Amino acid sequence: MVTAGHLSEEKKLERFIERINAGEKIEADDWMPEEYRKTLIKLISMHGISEIMGALPEKEWVPKAPSLKRKLGIMAKVQDEMGHGQLLLRVAEDLMKPYGKNRETIMEDLFSGDLKFHNVFHMEAPTWADAGLIGWLVDGAAIITQTNMLDASYGPYARALKRICAEEVFHAQHGESIIIALAEGTKEQRAMIQDSLNRWWDSLLMFFGPGDASTTGTSKQDTTIKYKIRTKTNEQLRQDFFTKYIPRVLSLGLTLPDETIRFDEETGKWVYLQPDWSLFKQIIKNKGPKSEERLRLRKISYETNAWVREALGSEDVS
Ligand SMILES: [Fe+2]
Ligand SMILES: [Fe+2]
Repeated sequence: MVTAGHLSEEKKLERFIERINAGEKIEADDWMPEEYRKTLIKLISMHGISEIMGALPEKEWVPKAPSLKRKLGIMAKVQDEMGHGQLLLRVAEDLMKPYGKNRETIMEDLFSGDLKFHNVFHMEAPTWADAGLIGWLVDGAAIITQTNMLDASYGPYARALKRICAEEVFHAQHGESIIIALAEGTKEQRAMIQDSLNRWWDSLLMFFGPGDASTTGTSKQDTTIKYKIRTKTNEQLRQDFFTKYIPRVLSLGLTLPDETIRFDEETGKWVYLQPDWSLFKQIIKNKGPKSEERLRLRKISYETNAWVREALGSEDVS
């Protein structure tokens, strides 16, 4: 813990910036600027709640998995995601203490629509290929954004991410294994993956958030970069995703639902069709195809399990 009580606000900020520039980790009880605290609360509570909401589309596939082996795999993944949510909400809760908030209020914010969750988890997963694709490419996209924050200036988040990323690698392998099995299967099974890829492509592009061109003024990404929570912009992360996954997608004989996509040798960047960003804004405002249903499920589960929180004598066990 670094005490800075005797210093002026200006000096505290100066010292804080020096610490993060030197690669030091900020801990929960350390002094931090309010903008930093608020940015972390927003980022980590959104990340934590997305882990929990993300378990829902996959949970739908537990009873329908095609074999016992796949059922065990997807059950373990769902359980891991809930664990990630718990871990992250604890980190968010510590940051919220000065505002008198806790996990109970995080849930209330989710139900009221104040707290958003990732666009991908508002979408439908109608086939087994979707269950595989989520593991392969959604968790794959998550690995790209989360490994970029493994060295985040906020110590508790960086440490939680270390464990989360290790488990996400298993999730991506589990998804890839489902997709490879389908790709080696019948014509119908290959068509099922292609349909799923076509359905998920825009959501995957949106996963990284709007790019540099579509943001004006000081964006949230600038703030996270300024405070060394992450190093890359949304667009750089999306480009990393293309570079890593496009060759793999094509090697399975799949096509991308964007005929214009190409790697521009001159700029060293992928050129691609932008998804409809106005739709993205709608989806994260809980207007996606599955938003309402999944929020309802989460609420039922939260209310049904209220007795556990009461039995443990704590309001903040979710
Ligand atoms: Fe996760
Ligand atoms: Fe995962």
